[in-house]
Amino acid sequence: MEKTSVEGVRKSSFEELTGIKDAKHLERFRVKYLGRNGVLTAILRSLKDLPLAERRTLGPAANSLRNELEKRIKEKLSEFSSVSAGDFFDASRPGKKVKIGHPHPLAVVEREMREIFESLGFATVDGPEIETDYYNFDALNIPPDHPARDMWDTFWLKEPKNSKAKFLLRTHTSPMQVRFMESHQPPFQIIVPGRVFRYEATDVSHEINFYQLEGLMVGKGVSLANFKAVIEEFFKRFFNKPADFRYRPSYFPFVEPGLEVDIKLKTENKWLEVMGAGMVHPRVFEAAGYNPRELTGFAFGMGVDRLAMIKYKIPDIRLFYAGDLRLTTQFK
Ligand code: PHE
Repeated sequence: MEKTSVEGVRKSSFEELTGIKDAKHLERFRVKYLGRNGVLTAILRSLKDLPLAERRTLGPAANSLRNELEKRIKEKLSEFSSVSAGDFFDASRPGKKVKIGHPHPLAVVEREMREIFESLGFATVDGPEIETDYYNFDALNIPPDHPARDMWDTFWLKEPKNSKAKFLLRTHTSPMQVRFMESHQPPFQIIVPGRVFRYEATDVSHEINFYQLEGLMVGKGVSLANFKAVIEEFFKRFFNKPADFRYRPSYFPFVEPGLEVDIKLKTENKWLEVMGAGMVHPRVFEAAGYNPRELTGFAFGMGVDRLAMIKYKIPDIRLFYAGDLRLTTQFK
């Protein structure tokens, strides 16, 4: 045996040691070199059979390698199992909060509104945001050049080539009245939540786009009394507070009579206008292909933003569209 064999073991063992990443592997390493049948153990055992001169050089070299290996194994082991206060793993601690998305306040309010109407037997339907002037106006008894078109400041779209229809961004959800009636037979009761657009200056209560919820109930003998019952039940549940209602005559070309509904929450003590409504105009039934002598119906339209502002005391409609997380994260 020569001194070089100890040097060889030193080299290979040290190399191996740097690659060790866990305690199990480290134990295997220890057994391999320092165990009863270990490489270094064998060298140490063989010392006694060697001539004195060789023993003198090899002995101390082998012993010091053993000591070194023992020391290094110890160090490495403490690295693996070091339990300092800083990285102690407490499995009972609550996890890190992951930031996830959340619904927009208007989505929350729209969902609340939809759930109430659905529980009252209304079905929810959806309609296009880009409309033709036929559905947005003509079919609703507002012919071209009728002054009532001025009630809705309109975003007109460029006409496609060879198109007879004029396109616009719907100014209200009412165009879905005729679209729905064209393809369905009464009796039915629907709501149409959706985004609408108005070409007007913005301020605390006006936006160029906002959300409406349209309602339409058609059948034999549907009356204003039915309308009042539905709408008062809706608001009682929506605000979850006692309230008074006031019905004022008003004008919309697609209803007759037309009215506006005001609500006074007992907690607020002031009248707030919350919707336009009325009995479906015979002309609208005709546009849909219905016989107005056989049917009646009521229609209403209310602002989702406006109800959200009242319910959650939000002072400016523009806050809904400003993308400020300090507002929007308050809703779930
Ligand atoms: N569409 C009307 C508006 O936007 C509201 C309305 C709907 C009025 C249905 C009567 C009936 O102002």
